Amino acid sequence: MYAQMVKTGVSAVKTREEMSEQERAFQARIDAGEKIEPKDWMPDEYRKTLIRQIGQHAHSEVVGQLPEGNWITRAPTLERKAILLAKVQDEAGHGLYLYCAAETLGISRDEMIEMLHAGKMKYSSIFNYPTLNWADIGAIGWLVDGAAIMNQVPLQRTSYGPYSRAMIRICKEESFHQRQGYDIMMKMAAGSPEQKAMAQDALNRFWYPSLMMFGPSDKESVHSAQSMAWKIKINTNDELRQKFVDQTVPQAEYLGLKVPDEALRWNEDKGGYDFSEPDWNEFFEVLRGNGPCNRDRMRARVKAWEDGAWFREGLLAHGEKRAARRLKTAA
Ligand SMILES: [Fe+2]
Ligand SMILES: [Fe+2]
Repeated sequence: MYAQMVKTGVSAVKTREEMSEQERAFQARIDAGEKIEPKDWMPDEYRKTLIRQIGQHAHSEVVGQLPEGNWITRAPTLERKAILLAKVQDEAGHGLYLYCAAETLGISRDEMIEMLHAGKMKYSSIFNYPTLNWADIGAIGWLVDGAAIMNQVPLQRTSYGPYSRAMIRICKEESFHQRQGYDIMMKMAAGSPEQKAMAQDALNRFWYPSLMMFGPSDKESVHSAQSMAWKIKINTNDELRQKFVDQTVPQAEYLGLKVPDEALRWNEDKGGYDFSEPDWNEFFEVLRGNGPCNRDRMRARVKAWEDGAWFREGLLAHGEKRAARRLKTAA
């Protein structure tokens, strides 16, 4: 999935005069389009912001498996089950690339997971909504992975090397995710009246939570400026949201479904749609832990972590044994 841009940076951007010599050289490298690598010098805030952003992103990939995993055993055909399984496994892989990318900044995966479980690190608000019918799996692929792509494609050019390389690989897989979701929506929308109604219901419930995925509106997003100067963030939340709406509305029309927004209108002057903002109170409530599924999601993650402890310990013990054996042979 992806990182929701909430509180991912410091508020004020230093002017060149306020920067130290080292900071100026660092900024110059970023401005020249160079990648920053793990062993390079970097400002503390750059490191912290990236750990928070990549960590949130990794958690989102992993927690994002839960709403879809819910439907693996109930997929309508063997083919759909195989596709969904592959998709959910991809999300686990995305989590792994991203945890590895974050680890290059000097934090361990265990520490990040501990922080997630303690509520000190976030994941994307979208995964706190339930998946109530099979069309929800279509809507998630189409809208949620679609929003993720919108957000992640520019991040392929982000300044931190390991993050940028992880994004390149992830984006390739996200396109497949979106296609499989839209394919489900096409089948449902062209199916029986009941199936079409399910598709419409899924769009109704996932539309606004998908718009929220881009984070609060630019007016409220005080942390953006520094992240943009550091090329940790490439576009503003509102720019990406607009792009997403402009891309998605014709797709909904093609399906014969109605976007649940009475104010939605093409605006010739701006060359894009005017649309209603999501309910930001709901968004902040979900972030605070009060969404429909926050507690379930955390409970499932903590249980999976605890149930897997024996395996992680076994793997470590095996690794140590092998290392000891190698030492002996070398001696
Ligand atoms: Fe993903
Ligand atoms: Fe995905």
